[in-house]
Amino acid sequence: MSSRRSFLKQCSISASGFLLGRSRALSAMAHAMPAQANTLNASTLTPFVDPLPIPPVAKSSGVKPSPSSPKTNVPYYRLAAQPTEVKIHRDLKPTRMWGFGGSVPGPTLEMRSGEEVLVEWANELPQQHFLPIDYRLHGAEGNPQVRIVTHLHGGLVPPDSDGYPEDWYVPGKSLTYHYPIHQDATMLWYHDHAMGINRLNIYAGLFGAAMVRDKVEDALNLPSGKYEIPLVIFDRLITPDGQLYYPISDKPRAPWIPELFGDAVLINGKLFPYLEVEPRKYRFRVLNGSNARFYTLSFQNGLSFHQIGTDQGLLPSPVSLKKLELAPAERMDVVVDFSDSRGEQIVLKNDAVGVLQFRVSAAKVSDSSSLPSQLRPVPKIAESEAVKTRLLTLDEYRNLAGDVVELLLNASYWHDPVSEKPAQNSTEIWSLINPTDDTHPIHLHAVRFQILDRQKYAPWLYQSKKELRFLGPRVPPEPFEAGWKDTAGAHSKMVTRIIVPFNSYPGRYVWHCHILEHEDNEMMRPYEIVAG
Ligand code: C2O
Ligand code: CU
Ligand code: CU
Repeated sequence: MSSRRSFLKQCSISASGFLLGRSRALSAMAHAMPAQANTLNASTLTPFVDPLPIPPVAKSSGVKPSPSSPKTNVPYYRLAAQPTEVKIHRDLKPTRMWGFGGSVPGPTLEMRSGEEVLVEWANELPQQHFLPIDYRLHGAEGNPQVRIVTHLHGGLVPPDSDGYPEDWYVPGKSLTYHYPIHQDATMLWYHDHAMGINRLNIYAGLFGAAMVRDKVEDALNLPSGKYEIPLVIFDRLITPDGQLYYPISDKPRAPWIPELFGDAVLINGKLFPYLEVEPRKYRFRVLNGSNARFYTLSFQNGLSFHQIGTDQGLLPSPVSLKKLELAPAERMDVVVDFSDSRGEQIVLKNDAVGVLQFRVSAAKVSDSSSLPSQLRPVPKIAESEAVKTRLLTLDEYRNLAGDVVELLLNASYWHDPVSEKPAQNSTEIWSLINPTDDTHPIHLHAVRFQILDRQKYAPWLYQSKKELRFLGPRVPPEPFEAGWKDTAGAHSKMVTRIIVPFNSYPGRYVWHCHILEHEDNEMMRPYEIVAG
């Protein structure tokens, strides 16, 4: 439902918006304003000519003493953000990007629950940014162009290793973060979080996957090794000479745009790749790493996905799906069985567009992996456990011309005093009240949560009289999101209730919308877990 609205919106942007972009380019030339580049129509490229790349696994460069117990040595990694060139398609010139370890996505971090790791996140970027900074945005004004700070999304880590947006640092500097991993097996991801420019840094390529493993997962005998494959999906606009294009608004002094949608959908850094598979079960770890695009993935031949996990870990039992719906930053853990598709070529589509082709080999193979019917218990948190309910609005502000100028959480700016201060180890319900026309994927750092329900309400009454009148029944979460989450779609004109145990470290974290253009323009707030 939500993604449908976003889809419609995306359509209108990529149809009429594109034309607008072109006519703007013409008038821009006439007025000697900065020229708008033309973009390539990705659908004119030959699909399925490049093999799907698998991001390298990060290699530790030795051990270092743990900050918490200096007598123990823990694995130490160094991941440097560097300029790089990525060959995204056979028929395109290499694309200039920024990647950790020089790859996009960066190397995959492999971690085990119960272990600690140290990661030195180094900034080895040039002094100048190559994407259009909007200096009016909080955090960008008066600061160096190139700044990074890396966040481990979904990692339940101490505040001083969480990548607080204001803890950015410039080229030549680095920060070493300590990740004591005490959480269930799942797919996390790391990405830039620098205040006011993280939409541009992530667009440039500063992100990668991170896997947490544990004994529960080991015991399930899921497809593993070369049969477990990350699919990191992100959309871009590409110029005819193969370079990244990030559009600006028609106001040169206010270049921020409310959402970035690209027609080039890349998977693991390739445009329309193919993957050779055997006729057997595979496990795919799917991540939506896009700035703003929602995906609806399906197989052209109607093959099913068996979803086994959400953002924060395994579901109680597999859910069979024909479509995977992912908002920005969401992850899905799925098993796909190709054993009945010997010799076939199967296209994975996003809506109507083929984005990845599977080439299933013809010869029968043996498959000793399993898809168990029971995975991991996910005890439902009772509403009665919540000590507090917070009503929090998601707000969008437009100017007289109807353009979105900024977005806020609960009508507050980033620099307003901290208002959400849950007590450590307490449980709260956050009611996300969304009067806007869009789904906002809301993400909280440092915790995992469950979605309680969503309910239609009367936005005008709440806006004018603070009266919360519901217009429909409480809708439970979809089966595919009824597990542990760290990002939840707060749907348009609905109140989405999440229940959050703040079983984390005390200190300052953030919560925000994961549409990166929104996050960079005030739809992010600090929050504080209070000890005691
Ligand atoms: Cu994906 Cu604040 O994070
Ligand atoms: Cu996060
Ligand atoms: Cu948003």
